[in-house]
Amino acid sequence: MTSRNVTVVGLQWGDEGKGKIVDALTEVCDYVARYCGGANAGHSVVIGDQKFALHLIPCGVFHKGIVNVIGNGVAFDPAVAVKEISQLRERGIEVGPGNLAISAAANVVMPYHKLQDSLSEERLGDGKIGTTARGIGPCYCDKANRSTAIRVAELIDEAVLVPKLRAIAAAKNELFASVYKAKPMDIAAMVHEYVALGRLIKPMVTNTGAMLRKAVAAGKRVLFEGGQGSLLDVDHGTFPFVTSSSVSACGVSAGAGVPPSAVGQVLGLVKAYTTRVGSGPFPTEQDNAIGQAIRERGHEYGTTTGRPRRCGWFDAFAVRYTGDLSGVDEMALALLDVLSGLDEINICVGYKQGGRMVEDFDAACMDGMTPVYETLPGWSEDITACRTFGELPAAAQAYVARVEQLVGRPVGFISVGPERTQTIRHHTKIEGLR
Ligand code: IMP
Repeated sequence: MTSRNVTVVGLQWGDEGKGKIVDALTEVCDYVARYCGGANAGHSVVIGDQKFALHLIPCGVFHKGIVNVIGNGVAFDPAVAVKEISQLRERGIEVGPGNLAISAAANVVMPYHKLQDSLSEERLGDGKIGTTARGIGPCYCDKANRSTAIRVAELIDEAVLVPKLRAIAAAKNELFASVYKAKPMDIAAMVHEYVALGRLIKPMVTNTGAMLRKAVAAGKRVLFEGGQGSLLDVDHGTFPFVTSSSVSACGVSAGAGVPPSAVGQVLGLVKAYTTRVGSGPFPTEQDNAIGQAIRERGHEYGTTTGRPRRCGWFDAFAVRYTGDLSGVDEMALALLDVLSGLDEINICVGYKQGGRMVEDFDAACMDGMTPVYETLPGWSEDITACRTFGELPAAAQAYVARVEQLVGRPVGFISVGPERTQTIRHHTKIEGLR
């Protein structure tokens, strides 16, 4: 049986506007599950005059009847989760055991992970990765190391947590003192705080893999909500300037505990241009007036860190690669309105290296890549009020069509503003949408 599930993945370097599209697709789903990353993500949802920025809680919380799942592949930060839950409750959004399930097998982000993230970056100086300092890399390091990891099941079991955390934290203190000359962390205070956090989340902790497998077997529809973007994937991105989890659709199965066949239709999200936060290769970057104009018009400042994002032209060569990697069925093209007002728009159709066209995009070999551009006419009209493809100026229609051709996949949705209503339904085949 073909799965009715939907997987939403970013096809660039993150921040492709996943929050808005996940929120829209939630209308036709029963579960929304996160399978990768952690509080490094920043998903924005605008509902009426209210703006919400979620880092860890899945975007399905805004819809009644949806079960939101934090899968085993997530680096789970209980301090962020508890804060986010209470902020949502203060704003009238219900979050609790009835609509949020946290995997007992997810790995916990501890204060020493965040500290190590910052200390390590500081030590790397100019060679730093430019992380979000949310402790993501060190948490996944401990996961792979096993003996120094704390899983959610242990966090909520005080008898297990207390001795284990004391021992691990003491070892981290020694390590940080010798490597980074860092002051010791207050272990007693940390134990006290994490025992309390464990108690608060305990009612929501469960075997989410079993829950999702049963849901899929029962014909329920699951939306897998990717974090970051495929070019930040730890295996397939621009290593080492990547995050530490499998963020492409390849990560769904392992990170949610479902078979690969559960991935379903894959919706790849792209911006109409490209952005990147942190260090690393970005061949189409426009470190000039064009990039600055895109940054200001698109409010391209990080949801998680507030950092200005690097901005540049749409890279169809890179997106064709990430689309192939995740088996993308259709794309959602976000922020098309930001390009209004440019006389001409460039699209990268390939790379040259040493004067020769490169055949395959290789995220591991980005040195010396020069983008080859095709230039399309721009449009001057404000398109934020357009609600059908036909209402878009001819040049904007031609731009969308060229993106489809170059990437080799249809554009299902076009977003022309942050509001739920500012969405154009184009070639989508996702069933059930009103
Ligand atoms: P980390 O995930 O905090 O370790 O950061 C590693 C790299 O991924 C850095 O370049 C971050 O800026 C980038 N990154 C992590 N999460 C996001 C995201 O949600 N959007 C965009 N970039 C991200």
